[in-house]
Amino acid sequence: MFPRKVGSAWEIFTPAKLNLYLEVLGPKSEGFHPLETLMTPVRIFDQIRWMPGSPGRLKPKLQICNLLATSRGPAISLGPQPDNLVMRAAEKLARSAGVEHHGTFQLVKRIPVQAGLGGGSSDAAATLQLLNVAWNIHYDPSRLRQLAAELGSDVPFFVGSGPAICRGRGEQIERVAGLPRLALVIVKPPVGLSTQQVFDRLHNDGLPSVDQQLPSAKRLALLVSALRRGALADAGQRIFNRLEAVAEQLTPWIVRLRQVFNQCGCHGHFMTGSGTAYAGVMRSAKQARLVARSLACRDLGSIFATSSC
Ligand code: C5P
Repeated sequence: MFPRKVGSAWEIFTPAKLNLYLEVLGPKSEGFHPLETLMTPVRIFDQIRWMPGSPGRLKPKLQICNLLATSRGPAISLGPQPDNLVMRAAEKLARSAGVEHHGTFQLVKRIPVQAGLGGGSSDAAATLQLLNVAWNIHYDPSRLRQLAAELGSDVPFFVGSGPAICRGRGEQIERVAGLPRLALVIVKPPVGLSTQQVFDRLHNDGLPSVDQQLPSAKRLALLVSALRRGALADAGQRIFNRLEAVAEQLTPWIVRLRQVFNQCGCHGHFMTGSGTAYAGVMRSAKQARLVARSLACRDLGSIFATSSC
């Protein structure tokens, strides 16, 4: 997504993500578990708007408008949050480029939080990209990705567009071309999990002994190949998330949503990232709309009929 100028303001729309594959390659080292993951952006967007202020005179401000729809209707709350990743990203870029951090930020939230959908990371990456233009800094994407990596594991993925395989703690990015657009239903239950909580549980329990016959890189390559061929039934069987079994021990929602999606007739279903959002790869956009509509009355939380992008 690219920033665009609206009067004297700048704005950007920034997507959520799904992990179609996530394997933990080893134990925690230097605070992080090494990962291999395939991520795709999805069409649920937060919106960030920045309006210039008076550098050095007024403190920068953040206004948040929460539009997180639930099955009971939209929840709207407004309020400033100085620790938000938008402000942290702006401060980091300002310090790095020697620019005065200023102006008013408006963040419109549609991506559920504590969901594994990358909303906060996407907001941070979008802020870097927006201010890089608005403040005439002109860092190249690799320099922006370095700053992004200091803000969180998933942030570098969102500097740029399209699906990618991410390795290390997320900073090694290989864009993947030729994947089809996936019709999706995503459910974010009322209960969330923090990334830290899920990885702490994995760390305490230890990685399970190897239960897979093929190495991770091979399993991932087979998934990418199935997706590229449009063999979605095959791909659905190869979608994998090592953190799903961990999250399952922390909330009953994962098992419940698996049972719900088992009855949808989709190609495959899975938890994304560290949860708790759960997604199904549908046979068509029409099926996605019908399934989302049928789930809307079941008190499952926020429900989206959407697609990858
Ligand atoms: O990078 P992010 O802020 O998403 O990570 C939150 C926490 O989750 C980290 O501080 C770390 O404890 C844990 N984590 C991990 N291995 C990763 C990513 C996150 O252990 N690859």
